[in-house]
Amino acid sequence: MNNNPVIIGLDIGTSGTKAIAMNTDGTLLASTLKEYPLHSPKPNWAEQDPSDWWKATLDALSELASKINSQNVVAIGLTGQMHGSVFLDGENNVLRPALLWCDQRTTAQCATITEKAGGEAALVEMVSNPALTGFTAPKILWLRDNEPAIFEKTRKVLLPKDYIRWALTGEYATDVSDASGTLLFDVKNRCWHTELMSLLELDSNLMPPAFEGTEITGNLLASIAAKTGLPSGIPVIAGGGDQAAGGVGCGIVRPGIVSSSLGTSGVIFAFSEGVCTDPKGRVHTFCHAVPGKWHVMGVMLSAGGALQWFRNTLCREEQEKAITTGRDAYEYITDAAATVPLGAEGLIFLPYLTGERTPHKDPYAKGAFIGLSLRHNKAYMARAVLEGVAYGMRDSLDIMREMGVSLSVSRASGGGARSALWRQIMADTGRIAISRINVDEGPAYGAAILAGVGAGCYGSVEEACDALIRETDCIQPNADSAIQYDAWLEEYRNAYKALKPNYQRIAALL
Ligand code: XUL
Repeated sequence: MNNNPVIIGLDIGTSGTKAIAMNTDGTLLASTLKEYPLHSPKPNWAEQDPSDWWKATLDALSELASKINSQNVVAIGLTGQMHGSVFLDGENNVLRPALLWCDQRTTAQCATITEKAGGEAALVEMVSNPALTGFTAPKILWLRDNEPAIFEKTRKVLLPKDYIRWALTGEYATDVSDASGTLLFDVKNRCWHTELMSLLELDSNLMPPAFEGTEITGNLLASIAAKTGLPSGIPVIAGGGDQAAGGVGCGIVRPGIVSSSLGTSGVIFAFSEGVCTDPKGRVHTFCHAVPGKWHVMGVMLSAGGALQWFRNTLCREEQEKAITTGRDAYEYITDAAATVPLGAEGLIFLPYLTGERTPHKDPYAKGAFIGLSLRHNKAYMARAVLEGVAYGMRDSLDIMREMGVSLSVSRASGGGARSALWRQIMADTGRIAISRINVDEGPAYGAAILAGVGAGCYGSVEEACDALIRETDCIQPNADSAIQYDAWLEEYRNAYKALKPNYQRIAALL
């Protein structure tokens, strides 16, 4: 075996493709990021062009290879945004832009799937999850209902990272964690649910073979090796959806420790030894990228995304100051929020800017500031945004507590975790210790670990995580603040209940 093996993690994200290269001791050798646009041709639609992902991948891998001793690379692990649908014809041509995880056009198809499965309880029994607009199966049905000529030509449906896998290796394959988010996967038995596919009148060959996260799914094609400067024939490992790979990258590979990631979406991610479902389907139950294990997660669609919206829409001044001082605009915003008392003097923010999955499963939910008064300025609004997102994360924690999931500490990750104020608010509202870890590379790091296990550099995912990941600090919830927050949390929850009928009427008017 190579004396100095290098492993690559490749993340096909929503804002860009990130590639990292590391040694087996976890030392980061190089990292590259190539961005691409997201298109919203109609309200509630979110699409991307798979050729943008592929171009970004070639650029990211070539640049990465040029920064390292590329002949030492022994494996590539893949991860990426989940649920998206790439429709391919028999000659592997992409038939239309991919529909993404945050696309909300499929309400009617979710209803059809639930009905054909025999109701929500029956569907959860089959695939461990209810039908949600972001998942893949409703996207396939949407194509059949709305663009039948394209559906007729479709021979394969691939998830975003698996389209890139096909381009890298010529093989159709996915991994069990990403497959779990299609709603066509038997999460309990870790295989495609052919019975549900036939109830939906979908060809069982539409989806690619599914592998465990550390398995080899193919080898780098000589033509791509020549283009990127990487060694021809190196194994491309199954990897995982961005949440499962992110979980591995935070060391969430045993019961007890969960992670809270504050990216565009906000996710509480917990390990599970067995299949553990919420009968109300408010959290997702998916296969883990750790072979033979599962995970449970609550997903908020706008977490860091809500603060980003606030910055872009209302904080021009902070953004201009940031350009001149070299500080981050978010630091000005959170500094201002820190001057405002807990509870923002009754100003409550609902963060449902793109609808919500956990806990409401409601594509029509919208954002709101409730309780505005003359005393409330931008600093109060900033605090309300941080608190509103934290209440949403608490909703996920509470559902997991109800399910008996063990929760001792939550490892914070993602851009939002950089704010000490936000971490303390998360600890106080969530009544959970919040720690940080020594790595901050997100899902790409988990994909690299999975690649390392697949290439034989580590004995297991758990062994690799034990060797590479450690907590660097940990804050405890403040008991007084937690009591005060509980009262505001109640009002936050009441506000959604009160507004739900308005949201439905507004959606009908639109
Ligand atoms: C997970 C989910 C998002 C996307 C984009 O269910 O929808 O986390 O994977 O990151």
